[in-house]
Amino acid sequence: MKALGTLSMALLATGFVLAPHPVHAAQTAEWAVPDVDALPNDKFGKLVRRGRDIVNRTFAHVGPEVADPAKRYTGNNLSCSTCHLDAGTRKFGNGFVGTFANYPQYRGREDDIQSIEDRINGCMERSMAGKPMPVDGPEMRAMVAYFKFMSSGVPVGTQVAGTGLPKIAIIDRPADPVRGKEVYTQYCASCHGAEGQGVRVGKAGDAQGYVFPPLWGPDSYNNGAGMARVIMAARFIKYNMPKGVTHETPILDDEQAFDVAAYINSHTRPVKANLEADFPNRKNKVVDAFFPPYREGFTVEQHTYGPFKPIIAARERELNGK
Ligand code: HEC
Ligand code: HEC
Repeated sequence: MKALGTLSMALLATGFVLAPHPVHAAQTAEWAVPDVDALPNDKFGKLVRRGRDIVNRTFAHVGPEVADPAKRYTGNNLSCSTCHLDAGTRKFGNGFVGTFANYPQYRGREDDIQSIEDRINGCMERSMAGKPMPVDGPEMRAMVAYFKFMSSGVPVGTQVAGTGLPKIAIIDRPADPVRGKEVYTQYCASCHGAEGQGVRVGKAGDAQGYVFPPLWGPDSYNNGAGMARVIMAARFIKYNMPKGVTHETPILDDEQAFDVAAYINSHTRPVKANLEADFPNRKNKVVDAFFPPYREGFTVEQHTYGPFKPIIAARERELNGK
């Protein structure tokens, strides 16, 4: 009884530190991927499969090179699966199993409640460097059906172990783009190219996307994307790159993951206007957001590359009202 009490106090304390809004007692569930191909070929099954196809081949449906100008919603030729591996079915590959069961949800970046459509459009405007899709349009309806099916059997509010990305230990020093370049040359350039521009399936203009996606430059995610932040990118990279590693078999250590994330994000990429408006409740602002306003006493460099531990400590003091 006593042990349990201490544990839940500790959990509550952590919840309070990390989130300023009330934390509800979350249920948890194991990772289990529903079988999209087992769905019958009726209207719902077709819609779910269409949603999966849009997630896998976003560039061919709503990319900047599709024939119908009215359907050009994304700004780059990536797909959702470029970062949500295997259409979100890869455990800790930024996965989608259980995602639908957790929306609508409070989001600090907007300081507001976001629906699943809002959240998809968040990635449209940042990771895909594009514009929001209409919430009642056929592409969004198909995607939402896919997200719903990916939460089959997951009770509302349940956290599935394996959704999103694993945590990473924060390194003590700043992430170093110079060392990151060495990591990049050794482990990444063979696919993503020495200049980070990836390899297209065909030629520019054909709306067929990439074999290996670009990691920076005009056809990449914009600077307002989650991947543009060093801690987020390090988490993705450590547990998923070079392609073939899983969260159970990482090759890079934490320092290499931070350094190569810093190297990738030190390059130019599309710019999202008005980033200062993110996190309108400043207490929510994530520590690796490199755009202003900055936390008192910390520079733009430290927000970009770290060391992050002092900023994390300052944020926790702020959230605890000290
Ligand atoms: C460049 C990488 C990238 C691309 C491309 C991308 N995303 Fe994301 N997405 C992320 C990252 C990183 C997160 C986690 C962000 C966070 O936690 O703040 C995320 C989070 C999400 C979430 C929230 C997941 C959850 O469990 O709460 C949804 C939904 C989502 N993305 C949908 C999409 C869709 C749909 C597309 C394609 C239209 C897409 N994303 C393209 C990187 C990407
Ligand atoms: C064997 C080829 C290969 C190697 C090596 C490789 N990647 Fe990737 N990478 C991919 C592919 C393919 C994707 C798209 C997702 C998928 O299909 O799995 C990807 C996606 C990514 C993404 C997310 C998408 C984007 O456009 O930002 C990042 C970031 C990334 N890789 C970074 C790295 C880093 C850093 C390394 C080296 C540590 C690396 N990759 C090594 C093939 C590779």
